[in-house]
Amino acid sequence: MALPSGFLDDLRNRLSISDIAARKVIWDQRKSNPAKGDFWAPCPFHQEKTASFHVDDRKGYYYCFGCHAKGDMISFVRETDNVSFIEAVEILCREAGVEMPEQTRDPRAAEKRDRAQRLADVMEQAVQAFGLSFRSAAGQAVRDYASGRGLTAETLKRFEVGFAPDSRTHLTKVFTEKGVLEEAVASGMVIRPDDGAAPYDRFRNRLMFPIRDPRGRCIGFGGRAMDPNARAKYLNSPATELFDKSRVLFNYGPAREAAGKTGGLIVAEGYMDVIALVQGGFAHAVAPNGTAITEQQLAMMWKLADEPVIALDGDKAGLRAAERLADLALPLLTPGKSLRFCLMPEGQDPDDLIKTQGSAAMQAALDAARPLIDMIWERETAQSALDTPERKAALDQRLRTLLSQIGDAGIRNHYAAEFKARRSALFAPAAQAAKATGTSDRPLSSSGRTRNGAFSRRMAAKPMRETINSGLARTDPAGLADARIREAAILLILLNNWEVLDRVEDELEATRFASPETSAIRAAVLDAGADMSGFEADVTQRLGETPHTVLHRIPQAKAHPMARPGLAPDAVEAVLVEAMTRHRALLSLDTELLDARRELAEAEDEGVTARMRAARNDLIAANAKATEDTPAVEQGAESDLQRMLDTETWRRRKRGIPHHLAENEG
Ligand code: UTP
Ligand code: MN
Repeated sequence: MALPSGFLDDLRNRLSISDIAARKVIWDQRKSNPAKGDFWAPCPFHQEKTASFHVDDRKGYYYCFGCHAKGDMISFVRETDNVSFIEAVEILCREAGVEMPEQTRDPRAAEKRDRAQRLADVMEQAVQAFGLSFRSAAGQAVRDYASGRGLTAETLKRFEVGFAPDSRTHLTKVFTEKGVLEEAVASGMVIRPDDGAAPYDRFRNRLMFPIRDPRGRCIGFGGRAMDPNARAKYLNSPATELFDKSRVLFNYGPAREAAGKTGGLIVAEGYMDVIALVQGGFAHAVAPNGTAITEQQLAMMWKLADEPVIALDGDKAGLRAAERLADLALPLLTPGKSLRFCLMPEGQDPDDLIKTQGSAAMQAALDAARPLIDMIWERETAQSALDTPERKAALDQRLRTLLSQIGDAGIRNHYAAEFKARRSALFAPAAQAAKATGTSDRPLSSSGRTRNGAFSRRMAAKPMRETINSGLARTDPAGLADARIREAAILLILLNNWEVLDRVEDELEATRFASPETSAIRAAVLDAGADMSGFEADVTQRLGETPHTVLHRIPQAKAHPMARPGLAPDAVEAVLVEAMTRHRALLSLDTELLDARRELAEAEDEGVTARMRAARNDLIAANAKATEDTPAVEQGAESDLQRMLDTETWRRRKRGIPHHLAENEG
């Protein structure tokens, strides 16, 4: 595998690292000094707006003062093209016009490469043959078609548009004569039937678009039928050793160069859209090849742009494809990487829009592209009216499911916050209307229906601060004890896994604690940020004891399986988020119960009883879930509740309230 000595130096001398890097970055003109071989740009290896990425042409090195990425042109190609060392050297060799030294090839790899080369040769010959046919007399009709669609001579040349004549043997004959029929079959250009019948051309009477890989090799074709009655409007190359549709985007190579300059990328549905976009001045356009966009294609898109703009057809199929893509993207989002969705006019694709209204209209559509979150939010909220608690809860459920799809914790938190904000804006008018008609959150005693209404809304939302701060939770010793255990467990998990703090900080911020001790520790945690030593001092000052001393006094919390160091941050985060969510729910349930209980003494109507029953069922359900993964923490809750309900039952019986109106005893 060793390269001849001096080979790499020679290669580096033939190229300049600034030229190589310029394909991926945009130089900061003011900061750069080309005369001195001194270049600055926003770093391609991390998200930034300033230009911390420095290239020194004379030394042949790059270094980023922000993320400290550094290396030479080979490592630059390796990192930015995501290729191996040898592949990077190959790419640079091609760039420099030098031959790759023979001895670097191991025999099997060499054989594979030779085979790939032979298939690529066949493809290249097909490009030539289709080009010839396009320009021949037989190509008159297809030339008329192309110009009728507005394709200029320059565009035809740029995309090497060809013509597969209406013949079963056109290419087959050429390849047989050259003795490469085997390769022609393997490349998918010629079909050899299993039954021994004569081989024949795959593409017949079609306008042909060569598909090239990022290195410029032709690996497949798309062919548009000239006969409107053809079975398929578009026919693509089958999967071959060269062509893996899931990893190919039409026009990727040229778009990569253009994207390097504009920082943008447009993703359209079809060949003709890309061609029209490029001709219309949008060189940074790609398309999948008749398949739904795959994970690999998404990764390729994100290599070229942070927020590729998806410009699919303005019809049902286009919208569905966009929604599928949104779902595909959620688990794969990383900070800074997302998608934007360009809504095409009804029934139009980019090709139609540019043809009928020009590039300016296309640009306007691109400028109006919506972020991914809008796309998702609109889909979820447009599904049905949100006018009943059940429908609202169904929306909440869908949003929760979507959130759980997001792989990156930071992004998930921000999506959660955004959903929450949009959700309250969406539900706000209803809440205000409810208040106006008296169905507010004010404690009401007379109408059970009203109470249930308020309850449903509270269950869907985060418990109201007033509820938690109302003092009710604190006046009930049993409820407080349980809350204190849960809170201590949350804190102990966090203290043992301090590195997840920044991931759950927002969640912790949103979670009020009921016990004074744990509240003080929570506040200190939120104040401390990354500085753990400051935190301990802070708590000690507030409570006169270290946080560990305080928390270890609560054995149920100490016994929590996650209250120990060295756990996977993702798991810790998941458990904490879950625990805090449940804690908020349980706190609000506790206060609901206490509310109900207090009222029960005054107004014993069935509504209150029903509300208590509902609250109890909810609490039991929440608790059952809790015991699944946090066995030691919340088991106390149900028995306390039972005790409380029993007391009420007893009191009611004593007062002669009919038994069937009392709650069902578990
Ligand atoms: P469209 O039907 O939207 O094609 O399919 P288009 O680009 O607008 O075609 P024109 O304008 O009528 O020429 C979009 C893409 O779906 C794939 C092709 O990749 C096409 O470009 N497709 C479509 C197929 O693979 N097979 C088909 O039969 C149809
Ligand atoms: Mn079209």
